[in-house]
Amino acid sequence: MPDDDYLTAEFSLDATVIYLNHAGICPLPKRSADAIRRFAHECETQGARDYPRWMAMESRVREQLAQLIHAPAPDDIALLKNTSEGLSTVAYGFPWQPGDNVIISDEEFPSNRIVWESLRHRGVSVREVSLTQTEAPEDALIAAADARTRMIAISAVQFASGLRLDLVKLGGVCHAREIALCVDAIQAVGALQVDVQAAHIDFLAADAHKWLLGPEGIAVFYCAPRWRERLALHQFGWHMRENFSDYDARDWRPAPSARRFECGSPNMLGIHALSATLDLFAEIGMQTVERRVLAHAEYLFDAIQARQDLVCTTSLKTGRYAGILIFRSKSLSADEAVKQLRTQGIICASRGGGIRFSPHFYTPRAQLDRALAAIPG
Ligand SMILES: Cc1ncc(COP(=O)(O)O)c(C=O)c1O
Repeated sequence: MPDDDYLTAEFSLDATVIYLNHAGICPLPKRSADAIRRFAHECETQGARDYPRWMAMESRVREQLAQLIHAPAPDDIALLKNTSEGLSTVAYGFPWQPGDNVIISDEEFPSNRIVWESLRHRGVSVREVSLTQTEAPEDALIAAADARTRMIAISAVQFASGLRLDLVKLGGVCHAREIALCVDAIQAVGALQVDVQAAHIDFLAADAHKWLLGPEGIAVFYCAPRWRERLALHQFGWHMRENFSDYDARDWRPAPSARRFECGSPNMLGIHALSATLDLFAEIGMQTVERRVLAHAEYLFDAIQARQDLVCTTSLKTGRYAGILIFRSKSLSADEAVKQLRTQGIICASRGGGIRFSPHFYTPRAQLDRALAAIPG
């Protein structure tokens, strides 16, 4: 396991900042910021003279992402702008029939709700399942399915409660019942081990700017091979063609790989930064990252439980939590508490009616102690 000195060297956060908002927007690891600086310098001094190297980096990041989520191949990965674009790619490409329905939960971030609601004009309805009062959210989701349910679209980890779903269990049932599983994984990838094959995930989308420790505007989109040609395309441009560098060709076909979902020029700056971060994850190992993320949540939970003036609302039942911990002060609103913490350099968020702490694997324990001591009761 890397020690704190190694981790501190990989991050250059200002000493006045305790950063507990990886469920919002992450700080960049030093090596990713360096990659951006190098790339900017290259662009400034050389332009795109070495574009073939940039393309090689683009291929490399697909390989790294495929490995990270255990996709069968890099060809299953598209590099999109953000999670919302990935979900929209699924929603507007899926072969719906009027009368079909899609199941979501009542805790979803707007991106994973409104896109499905927007399908009403196609005769597709949304079934919203409450996850709050149930011990087995996967069963509750499945129980809402009927013969016209074509998809369950769910966050792997809920942004405003911290609830983590058992994707392997959910995916197993979906697979058996021929219901597609679409996962908004932005609160999971980079924090937890994610295995799209073990969980029979059909579609997965996650932007890099949270647990994945990359910049905004570059997202992984996984489309299971069995769906690739069945998703209708709705964005078109030079880059999604099979022979994308043949600018004179009048005939064209979509790329046989998931590149077909990327219409135009790639976000090369984001690709360089993300690739550097993915090297860091590979060096440390996602098992270790996950263990530390969960250990931080447990540590915070115990400390919050021990305080009379705070109430924790995230469930710490085995397998039900990830990196997000939400709690309330008995005397102060969450907004006010977050504002007060911010004045002390403690960066967190107000979500789900509570204070949201989301430290990452590299956050030193001593910083958690300082943040805990600063929480106004
Ligand atoms: C669960 C969840 N999905 C989606 C998003 C937004 O994703 P993007 O900006 O990548 O579309 C967020 C951001 O907070 C989120 O928490």
